[in-house]
Amino acid sequence: MFAAYAVRADADAPLNALAVGEMEAPSPPTGWVRVRVRAAAVNHHDVWSLRGVGLPSDRLPMILGCDAAGVDDNGREVIVHAVINSPDFAGSDATYDPQRSLLSERYPGTFATHVWVPPANLVDKPSELSFAEAACLPTAWLTAYRMLFSQSGARPGDTVLVQGAGGGVATALIALGRQAGMRVWVTSRDEARGARAVDLGAHQAFPAGARLPERVDAVMESVGAATWSHSINVLKPGGTLVICGATSGDNPAKAELTKIFFKPLRVIGSTMGTRDELISLTQMLVASGVRPRIDRILPLTDAAAGFAAMIAGDHFGKIIFEP
Ligand SMILES: NC(=O)c1ccc[n+]([C@@H]2O[C@H](COP(=O)([O-])OP(=O)(O)OC[C@H]3O[C@@H](n4cnc5c(N)ncnc54)[C@H](OP(=O)(O)O)[C@@H]3O)[C@@H](O)[C@H]2O)c1
Repeated sequence: MFAAYAVRADADAPLNALAVGEMEAPSPPTGWVRVRVRAAAVNHHDVWSLRGVGLPSDRLPMILGCDAAGVDDNGREVIVHAVINSPDFAGSDATYDPQRSLLSERYPGTFATHVWVPPANLVDKPSELSFAEAACLPTAWLTAYRMLFSQSGARPGDTVLVQGAGGGVATALIALGRQAGMRVWVTSRDEARGARAVDLGAHQAFPAGARLPERVDAVMESVGAATWSHSINVLKPGGTLVICGATSGDNPAKAELTKIFFKPLRVIGSTMGTRDELISLTQMLVASGVRPRIDRILPLTDAAAGFAAMIAGDHFGKIIFEP
């Protein structure tokens, strides 16, 4: 089976931990179903895996990739929900399972000709979405959907600040927030990337850390240490900060505890989303015409080039691999 996989952990030079080539097909747990991958999307999670974050050495080699759209053995076109629950988890929210994993953490991921998943992890791919568009949804877009619509409490007309412009989660937040009638502001370290965010649907772009014209109702945070204080400072009293990631580090210089309780703010952690939220997201895209911004589509043989672009922060939107 052809795949892109991690062979070691390299915290400083993650590309050195990547291998692309033939490998033995994995042996899936009983009852799991096979999906022929037509498109798989890259997430920063895959870079973390190469750096050794969340992927201990005893699980190597590990096929990377959380996201896929493809065709099952019955010819059904599907999107793969990437959250794998433990078999004895009985709750209704997959993200509350303490034993959950994402594809590529404990079970082989999607950067391969085939991936195996529990049948309940398959969702119908609407014919209106291409395989590449559908492959963007299970991680970055689902995370953005849950942050905005399930966690933030923001309503149409509210002002939402998205920290970061061109990332997978950031571009999804911009497109979804705009479609939902929110006023979407965005920060970027780079003026040109801020302008591209406005082109995508943001109402206004600001330099990272800039003073804003007024305080905002909610902040969508995935950058972490570099933007944490700004996120706290720009919120209205009673505002909400939703955090799903910490690309620049998870130990900010100031925790801002006093501002959090004095303003007072709500700080909400958010991870991925449920299967039902994934279905609602696909229905929203079909109904609205909103589509994921795709930066580039590469053959899986060129996986190293896709990873290099994400590590350098060169991409704007999602990077797709086609096996
Ligand atoms: N909890 C979850 O379930 C979940 C799901 C998805 C993602 N995540 C996490 O969320 C983060 C983003 O994921 P992604 O796949 O969207 O990554 P990505 O495509 O690589 O995007 C990175 C984003 O971070 C911004 N950024 C990076 N370093 C920055 C810095 N020092 N200062 C300001 N902005 C910076 C970039 O902004 P510019 O475009 O302005 O450069 C860009 O928008 C990752 O840490 C990922 O692990 C978590």
